[in-house]
Amino acid sequence: MIEGRRIWLTGASSGIGAHMAKELLQNGAHLALTARTLAPLVRLYERYPGQVLLVPGDLTDHAQVREIGMTIAQTWGALDTVILSAGTCEYVDVRQFDARVIERSVCTNLLANSYCIESALPLLRAGRTPHLVGVVSAITAAPQSRAQAFGAAKSGLRYLLASLRVDLAAEKIDVTLVSPGFIDTSPATHNEHSAQVHWPASKAASYICQQLQKRPREIVFPTRFLKVLNVLANLPKRLHMALTKRLSRRPDETSS
Ligand SMILES: NC(=O)c1ccc[n+]([C@@H]2O[C@H](COP(=O)([O-])OP(=O)(O)OC[C@H]3O[C@@H](n4cnc5c(N)ncnc54)[C@H](OP(=O)(O)O)[C@@H]3O)[C@@H](O)[C@H]2O)c1
Repeated sequence: MIEGRRIWLTGASSGIGAHMAKELLQNGAHLALTARTLAPLVRLYERYPGQVLLVPGDLTDHAQVREIGMTIAQTWGALDTVILSAGTCEYVDVRQFDARVIERSVCTNLLANSYCIESALPLLRAGRTPHLVGVVSAITAAPQSRAQAFGAAKSGLRYLLASLRVDLAAEKIDVTLVSPGFIDTSPATHNEHSAQVHWPASKAASYICQQLQKRPREIVFPTRFLKVLNVLANLPKRLHMALTKRLSRRPDETSS
């Protein structure tokens, strides 16, 4: 039951997070929305009066995340669900390996989420049937070309959340991992061919919101993409390398 739940959603200004925000608001949830870009959050605030709490900010800034936690605490006093969807994807050029790319990815995809978890846990403890949800990635199942920074950070986040599940079970806080494959966040790049392995962000968001109600340990999609990954992982080394490169995003594709 989504109606009336107090949900903190990060990454709400675009892509999967923005679509999830709409879906959850349409179903009567109360949302605390975070991203650095304010305008899309304000549009939701105006469209769903009384349902949206604006808590914008840069999640890589620990102090800002603490402020956001305090604002939610003062306004709602508790959280029932936290959905950590904010993330970025930068590709690595191994010919000019730059450790700063890894650093930025770890900062946004791992450290920022740990700041959010620090602020969220006391609020979840005061919430109803608490649920902690983190968006990781299906690509951590097998190494992908140029995904060293993104994959390493998301693998760290996966471990962080999965091991939190072990300790939070005693407090009846459920933890769900969301593992998208490649999702088209730009309608311009979406086409029938890509839909075989890429879902549009709207479809991904609907699927996540529907599955979250069952509180699974993990929500993985699109299934076609995963089958491809599994086949790849078991191929002879040369074939695996060649096909993995074909499956990877082109250098001009930037969405996470
Ligand atoms: N799209 C895919 O194929 C795919 C695949 C696997 C996993 N994922 C994961 O799914 C999630 C959503 O992906 P998406 O493709 O929908 O991404 P997106 O459209 O790029 O949206 C990312 C969101 O994260 C927010 N964000 C990024 N850095 C932030 C920061 N420092 N502070 C606050 N907010 C920040 C962005 O808001 P601002 O820029 O306004 O701050 C935006 O709302 C991400 O965690 C991504 O890694 C996506």
